Amino acid sequence: MSLKGKVTVVGAGFYGSTTALRLAEYNIFETVVLTDIVEGKPEGLALDMNQSRSIEGFETKVIGATTTAEGAGYEATANSDVVVITAGLPRKPGMSRMDLIGVNAGIVRGVAENIAKHSPNAVIIVVSNPLDEMTALAQIATGFPKNKVMGQAGMLDTARFTNFVAEKLGVPVSSVRTLTLGSHGETMVPVPSRCTVDGRALTELLNEAEIAELVDRTRNGGAEVVALLKTGSAYYAPSAAAARMAKAVIEDSGLVMPVCAWVDGQFGISGVYLGVEAEIGREGIRKVVEGSLTPSEVESLKVAAEAVRAKQADVKDL
Ligand code: NAI
Ligand code: 2OP
Repeated sequence: MSLKGKVTVVGAGFYGSTTALRLAEYNIFETVVLTDIVEGKPEGLALDMNQSRSIEGFETKVIGATTTAEGAGYEATANSDVVVITAGLPRKPGMSRMDLIGVNAGIVRGVAENIAKHSPNAVIIVVSNPLDEMTALAQIATGFPKNKVMGQAGMLDTARFTNFVAEKLGVPVSSVRTLTLGSHGETMVPVPSRCTVDGRALTELLNEAEIAELVDRTRNGGAEVVALLKTGSAYYAPSAAAARMAKAVIEDSGLVMPVCAWVDGQFGISGVYLGVEAEIGREGIRKVVEGSLTPSEVESLKVAAEAVRAKQADVKDL
C-alpha cells in the first residue's frame, strides 16, 4: 500500500499524542508530525511511536518537533495536507469549556498564523476548546477559505450518544445510529429523531423520559469524564473522532460526518461555525448536508447558532 500525504498534530498533550498515534497506525499517511512548545516532548513521543511500528505493522514515519509560540520549529510542519490543532489548556472539574476562551484564543491564534505561513494549502481541523469559537478564530487567523477550516465535536458527541444508547438497551454499538449537532457546549443538539437501533426508531424502544436522560448525559459527556479524571479531559474518544476526520480528508472520501462547519443558509442559518452534518473531502468541507430534522430540532439548532454567533464575533479581538 502506498503511503501519501503529511498530517501535522499541533500539541503533544493527551489529545494530540493519541491522535498522532491513531493517524500513524492507520498506515495511510507518509508522515505524521507532532509538535509542542515543551522542549523534547514531541521528539520523545515520536521516537516512542516509531519504535512501535514493527510491532503494530505500520510504516508511517512520525516526526516530533519542538516549536515556539513565535514560530521557531514550524519548518518541520511545512506543506502539511492536514493540520489538527490540539494546543491549549483542557478544563478542570467545575470549569466550563468557555472558561478556557481567553488563554486558548492566544494559543490558537498564534498556532494558526504559523500554520498558514508554512502550510498554505492545508485543511485545518480544530479541537481546542471552546471548540466552536476556536474554529472561528482559526479561520480568521489563517485567512483560509471557510471550507478548509472545520472543528471536531459532533463526531465525539454523537459517539457518546451512541455508546449511551447501546449500554441502555444492551445492544452492540454497531447496531446503533445517533446524531448530535449544534454547539460543543450547553446548546448541543442531540437529535433523537435520527436515532435508530437495527433500523428501528429509538422512540419505539425507549420512552420520552429515558431518551431525555440519555440526551442529558450526552450533553454532559465531557464534564462527566473531567469529573472522574480530576486533571484534564477525555482523549480516547476525542482523538478517534479527529483522526477519522483527517483520514476522510486525505482519502477524499466524501463521508458525511457531524462536524463544526461554516453554515451559509442551511436550516435558515447563516454566517456562523456550527455543528452540522457535512461531506468531507480533500478540500475540507465539500458541502453542508441538510438532513431531515423535526421542527423543534431545527429550532434548537437555531438557538445554538445564536449562542455561538455572539461569542464567535468576540474572538477576533482576543
Ligand atoms: P493537554 O494539556 O494534555 O495538552 C495540551 C498541549 O498543548 C500541551 O502539551 C501544551 O504544552 C501544548 N501547547 C500549549 N500551547 C502550545 C502552542 N502554542 N503550540 C504547541 N503546543 C502548545 O490537553 P489535551 O487533553 O490534549 O486537550 C487539548 C485541548 O483539546 C484542550 O483545549 C481541550 O479542552 C480540548 N478538547 C476538545 C475536545 C473536543 O471535542 N473538541 C475533546 C477533548 C479535549
Ligand atoms: C470533551 O467533550 C472536554 O470538550 C471536551 O470531552
